Amino acid sequence: MAQVVIIGAGYVGLTTGACLASLGNRVLCLDIDEDRIETLRRGGMPIFEPGLKELIQSEFAQGRIQFTTSYAEAIPAADFIFIAVNTPQSVNGQANMAQVEAAVRELANYIRPGAIIVNKSTMPVGSMDRVIEIISRSTPRPFAVVANPEFLREGSAVHDSMHPDRIVLGSSDEGARQRVADLFAPLQAPLLLTDPRTAEMIKYASNAFLATKISFINEIAQICDRLGADVAQVARGMGLDPRIGPAYLNAGIGWGGSCFPKDMRALEYLASTNGAHPQLLRAVIEINRDQRIHVVRLARELVDGLRGARVGLLGLSFKPNTDDMRDAPSLEIVSLLESEGALVRAYDPAASERARRLLPGVEICASAAELASGADAIIVVTEWDEFRSLDLAKLGRSMRKRVLIDGRNIYDSQVAREAGFIYRAIGRAEPAPSRVAVA
Ligand SMILES: NC(=O)c1ccc[n+]([C@@H]2O[C@H](COP(=O)([O-])OP(=O)(O)OC[C@H]3O[C@@H](n4cnc5c(N)ncnc54)[C@H](O)[C@@H]3O)[C@@H](O)[C@H]2O)c1
Repeated sequence: MAQVVIIGAGYVGLTTGACLASLGNRVLCLDIDEDRIETLRRGGMPIFEPGLKELIQSEFAQGRIQFTTSYAEAIPAADFIFIAVNTPQSVNGQANMAQVEAAVRELANYIRPGAIIVNKSTMPVGSMDRVIEIISRSTPRPFAVVANPEFLREGSAVHDSMHPDRIVLGSSDEGARQRVADLFAPLQAPLLLTDPRTAEMIKYASNAFLATKISFINEIAQICDRLGADVAQVARGMGLDPRIGPAYLNAGIGWGGSCFPKDMRALEYLASTNGAHPQLLRAVIEINRDQRIHVVRLARELVDGLRGARVGLLGLSFKPNTDDMRDAPSLEIVSLLESEGALVRAYDPAASERARRLLPGVEICASAAELASGADAIIVVTEWDEFRSLDLAKLGRSMRKRVLIDGRNIYDSQVAREAGFIYRAIGRAEPAPSRVAVA
C-alpha cells in the first residue's frame, strides 16, 4: 500500500485518485480551491463524471481517499506525488505551465527523500527538465520524476482509468519508472516504458491524430455534401477496414473540449518554434473551425437571415455525459449566431449551470420542449442520448419555423422530414446526380 498524493482535484486528478484508492493505496487529493475540497469532504462532487461520485464516496467511507488544501499536510509522507493540475492555452497557443510550476515549487518544500513525482498533466515536450530544475533548486533531497500522460476521456473517465488501453511511463530513472509501473500493475494494461520526451510526445501525437481523424471525415463530409454521397455510410465503409477503424469518424461540428483544442495549439506552437513546419496540424485546426461556421451558414440560409431569429441549441457541453464547457463548440456557435443578431436559447442535460456563467446572453431552457417553443431553427450541438429519442413531430409543432440542423448526424433524415422539418445534417445531402460534375 503506497501513500499517494494527487495535486489537482479535477477530472484527471479525482479519477486517478479514485482509481489508485480502489487498488488499495492511501490517497490524498490536494487542491488550492477550498470550495472544491470542502464539497468533496462533504461527500459532494464538483464535476459531473458518470460513476465518479459513487466510487469516491465508497473509497472515502473505507478511509482510502481524503481531501486537503495543505501541501504541508499532504506532501511529507507521500511516496508518489501526481501532478494533475490544468495546463491551459496561452494567448500564443503555448501550454501555460504556471499552475504546474506553482505546484512543483510548493511540493519541493516538503518532499521526503526518494519521493517520486509523476507528471500526469499534459505538459509540453521537455517539461520534465523544468520540473527537475525547480525541485533541485529548492532541495538537496533525492527525488525522481516520471512522465505518465493521461488518455482518459471525459464521460467515461472512470472506465478508462480502470481499464486503460496503455500506460506510458517516461523517465531516465529506471527504478522510479518501475515503481510507478508496479503501482498500476493490478490494471494489467500494456506498458510502454520510454524516455521523458517520448512519453510527453506520445500524448500530443495521440490527441493530434484523433483530432486529425475527425477533421478528415469533416472534410470528406463537405465533399459528400457537394457530390450527393452520405458521409455516415462512407465512414462506416471506411471504418470496417481494420487499418482505419471506426472510431473518431463521425462527421459533425467538430472537436472541442478541455484537451484537443489546447493540445493541438500547443503542439503547433512547439513545432513551429522549434523549426518544424506543422502544416497538417494547421489544416486540421482550420477545418474544425470551418465546421462551426458551416452550421451557422446553414441556419442563416434556411431561416432566411438570422437577425431577430430565435435559434435553439440542443446541447452545450463539448460532448455528451459531461458538464465540461472548456472550448465547447457551442461557445463559438453562440458567438457567431449572436454576432448576426440571433436570439439564442439552449438546453443541455448537465452543463446548464456552467453555461449560464459563460454565455450570459443565452436563455437557458429547462427542456427540449421549452427550447423548441417559438424557435425558428434548432441546431443539434451535442449528441446526448436523450436527444436521439425526442419526438420530432411533437417538437416541431411548437416551433415558428421547422428548421432542424443536425450538427451531430443523430437523426434519420427521412424521419425528420416526415416530421415536417427542413432538415440538414453534415455530409448527408440528398443525392443530386444531375448537379455532380464528372470529369
Ligand atoms: N480532462 C481530460 O479529459 C484530460 C484528459 C487527459 C489529460 N488531461 C490533462 O490533465 C491535466 C488536468 O486536466 P483536468 O481536466 O483534470 O483539469 P481541471 O481543471 O479539471 O482540474 C485541475 C485542478 O487543479 C487545481 N489546481 C490548479 N493549480 C493548483 C495548484 N498549484 N495546487 C493544487 N491544485 C491546483 C485546480 O483548482 C483544479 O481543481 C491537464 O494538463 C489536461 O490537459 C485532461
